[in-house]
Amino acid sequence: MGIKFLGLLMVSVLVAYYLYSPVPENVEDCWKLMLLNAVLRTVGHVATIAEKLGFANYMDVMMKITIIEYTPPASDEKVIVTDTKFNDVPVRLYVPKGQPDTLKRAMIYLHGGGWCVGGSGMKSYDFLSRWTSEKLNAVVVSVDYRLAPKYHFPAQFEDVYAVVKYFLQSSVLDQYNVDSSRVCVSGDSAGGNLAAAVAQQLLHDPEVKVKLKIQVLIYPALQTIDLDLPSYRENENMPILPKSLMVRFWSQYFTNDTSLKEAMETNQHGPTESSGLYKFVNWSHWLPERFKKSHIYTTPSHGSSKFGQKYPGLLDPRAAPLLVDETKLRGLPLTYIITCQYDVLRDDGIMYVSRLREAGVPVIHDHVEDAVHGAISFLTSPLTLSMGQKMSNNYIEWLNENL
Ligand SMILES: *[C@@H]1O[C@H](CO)[C@@H](O)[C@H](O)[C@H]1NC(C)=O
Ligand SMILES: *[C@@H]1O[C@H](CO)[C@@H](O)[C@H](O)[C@H]1NC(C)=O
Repeated sequence: MGIKFLGLLMVSVLVAYYLYSPVPENVEDCWKLMLLNAVLRTVGHVATIAEKLGFANYMDVMMKITIIEYTPPASDEKVIVTDTKFNDVPVRLYVPKGQPDTLKRAMIYLHGGGWCVGGSGMKSYDFLSRWTSEKLNAVVVSVDYRLAPKYHFPAQFEDVYAVVKYFLQSSVLDQYNVDSSRVCVSGDSAGGNLAAAVAQQLLHDPEVKVKLKIQVLIYPALQTIDLDLPSYRENENMPILPKSLMVRFWSQYFTNDTSLKEAMETNQHGPTESSGLYKFVNWSHWLPERFKKSHIYTTPSHGSSKFGQKYPGLLDPRAAPLLVDETKLRGLPLTYIITCQYDVLRDDGIMYVSRLREAGVPVIHDHVEDAVHGAISFLTSPLTLSMGQKMSNNYIEWLNENL
């Protein structure tokens, strides 16, 4: 009896220890988040072991979440949903049934998942796109770009850009009855990175005549050269996206070579060529005081790193949209940026807000004090997080008024 009880007690303590993650007190659904995070950590541990034993790549195991969460395209009474291809790139298309004779708005949506996992067919993204289509009476094109580690940068960007160029042709917009002056691009996390890159590239693309009305960047990743921002320091072990996972995502976006990941962990990866670029991501200059707190700024060491020659993508604005001068920002469309307090990517988003404003771009910044990265992916039961619901309500409401 005594031994069984003791055993049970020890197992309970271990489970409690394992479940526990440092969720700040002001975050709602604290326990749900811990539980969710415990599941994600477990998958992460399995992935690490599988990789160490040589069974599978870490991301192949993480990809199982995307596969389990897959839902086929299904129309309902309000929205027609189909899987198709634009310019040979798979997309999931949402066409609203309401008001068939009026011109519609449109959104190109880019899902998150660190360029390595995720898909428009995941329940969470399917739900968000369907809901957007219905609420805004908008055509939504959700892009299934190729993923790392099978495909590295710039495959992801190129797929997305091919879809954007296809869709923005007047003949195609006409076919879907879309008002060409009311089209936006939106994405979360790695998708926010791709959305920002798309908006920048479109500005100077003579082949595209239609202009985006809005870009929406939901907790985007925007730069590669300084992974020691205050937000990385403070949120290193936050649920959903710890620094270790973000570093994995960044490095795998460019290469399978693990030496880049190791260098990124200690912020030693900054290529020699990047010294002139630090001013674009100098958080001591671009962050408001309340985010700098007592953190001390040091320029990342970049002594002899050869990563810039090996992986030029590291310094390419299509991967790191913050690494451009002001002339490349001027003229960008009205921008809506969501950042979360408890997110390693927080300061990427906030620095972009500052830089866009300095370049004269109108920006609406929705900083959510009590949210973690990824919140908008938890809108369906049993994985509902109220912080995600609030965030998505504000987002849709704002788009309804502004798109
Ligand atoms: C990187 O690894 C993935 C997964 O193991 C593989 O499919 C891909 O071909 C590799 N890429 C290169 C360039 O070796
Ligand atoms: C970063 O910004 C601070 C404050 O504006 C400035 O003193 C420092 O020289 C800058 N460093 C770099 C590398 O741009």
